[in-house]
This record gives sequence, C-alpha cells and structure tokens, in this order.
Amino acid sequence: MLPHSQIIAETFVKQVEFHAEIGSTNDRALDLAVAEVGSATPLLVWALQQNAGRGRGANRWWASEGALTFSLLLDTAELNLPQARWPLVSLTTGLAVCAALQDLSPHADIGLKWPNDVFLESRKICGILVEIPPRQSGKLVIGIGTNVNNSLANAPPELVTTATALCDVSNRTWNLTSVLIQVLRHLAEHLRQLSIHDTTLAERWDELCFLRGRTVQHQVGDRVTLGVCQGVDREGALLLRTETDLARVMGGVITQWD
Ligand code: BTN
Repeated sequence: MLPHSQIIAETFVKQVEFHAEIGSTNDRALDLAVAEVGSATPLLVWALQQNAGRGRGANRWWASEGALTFSLLLDTAELNLPQARWPLVSLTTGLAVCAALQDLSPHADIGLKWPNDVFLESRKICGILVEIPPRQSGKLVIGIGTNVNNSLANAPPELVTTATALCDVSNRTWNLTSVLIQVLRHLAEHLRQLSIHDTTLAERWDELCFLRGRTVQHQVGDRVTLGVCQGVDREGALLLRTETDLARVMGGVITQWD
C-alpha cells in the first residue's frame, strides 16, 4: 500500500499532502487553513525535509534528513474541542508522542518537558508547535518534529549533548511511515480523551513531568519566576515552589533548568 493510502486507512487523517522538501509544514498548514479550499480534515502535511522549520517564539527547528516532521490541520468542531481546551492541546500532543515512543522503545526513559517538548533519556527528541490560524475558523495546526533516523551524532555542536534521536537510543533505523502512523493513532485517541475531559490525561502529564524536582527559571514577558518544579496541574499549569509560595505558571518559556 502507498504511504498516503496506508495513513488514511489506519489513522484519523482524511487527506495527505507530501513534500520532499518545504519551508515549514506549519506554515503550509496555516496557509491551507486560511485558503479554505474545502480541505478534508484532519489534513496531514508531511515533509521529509524542512529548510525553515520553526520552533516556539523566534526559535528555529533544526532537523537533518531522517527526521519525522509534519503538521496536522484540525477542525476543532469536528473533534469536539471547545476553545477552552485548546491551551491543553500541546501537552496532550506531547503525551501522544510519549505513548508512541513508549511503544517503539519500551525500555527508554521518557519525559514530557512542559509545555511542548518530549525528552528521551534526558535529551530532547521532539518539539511541538501548536498554532491558531487567523480568522477564527475553529481550525488548529499541530506541528510535530521528532528525531527518528537523523542521528544527533552529526548535529550542530550545541545539540549533540542536549538532543537525541530514536535511532541513537535504539541502535536501529525506523520506517518513518510506521512511526508516523503510531503517533497519529495515539494523537487521535488522546484528543478524543481531551474532548471528553478524561482526567487520566492530567494524571499522565503530571506523572511524566520531566522538570519535577528540578530548579527551573520561568519567564513570561519581563516576569521571571525561579522555583523547584512540583509537577503540572489539571489545568496544565506548571507548579513552582518559590521562596515565598507555590506559583502556578501558564504560557511563557522555561529559560533554565538544572
Ligand atoms: C519547539 O521545539 O519549539 C517546537 C518545534 C516544532 C517543530 C515542528 S517540525 C514540524 C512543524 N513545522 C515547523 O515549522 N515546526 C513544527
């Protein structure tokens, strides 16, 4: 079966757009959302290579050939996801990626680094970028970049010690379509759980919290909070024990951790 047909047959995706190379799959999915060409959703934009991959804020996303980089254009009405739940989509997606990686590499140590990274053996393996297209269409774009067959041995020096790939941890290469299908199946199930307010999601993101017990610096605008992480609460807020109290932080970025 061709990858397109297999993806459509085995997951909740209704349409696939494949690119050997593209700027950013998120940008392409955002363009499709705005164009409103009547695309069937969930629509998958999958690229073997991105030359302008984006991370959160002004960050770039580096990934060489062999990475799994894709974006999904979703219609939140179809998935029963009211706007109040959208801030939890990033953590929920992270859990889906954790579940897929757990299936593929059952003995590896997996963590969810609030709010949008997945760590394997204490190194970043996946970044998630959720974006809302303009015009209040009820659409969402979920971008996921996972290092699969792109060994970090050849990465820029600043990444060699902080990031990893599935092939580095498991000492084998993977069929990218199979990994993609595994992630998509878990994502469909996790988004369904989010739509029905399933409390096991919150238990799971707290359980998998990579930052727990670490001293963390959080920044939103000019406001910096330093504290020891106590986990992630039901509303998806990071809990930090500061010198004075227990702070709940939402949004912003983690600028340092030990
Ligand atoms: C981060 O680590 O800050 C998020 C990285 C998200 C990268 C993915 S790769 C697929 C999709 N397209 C992009 O341009 N970015 C996301």
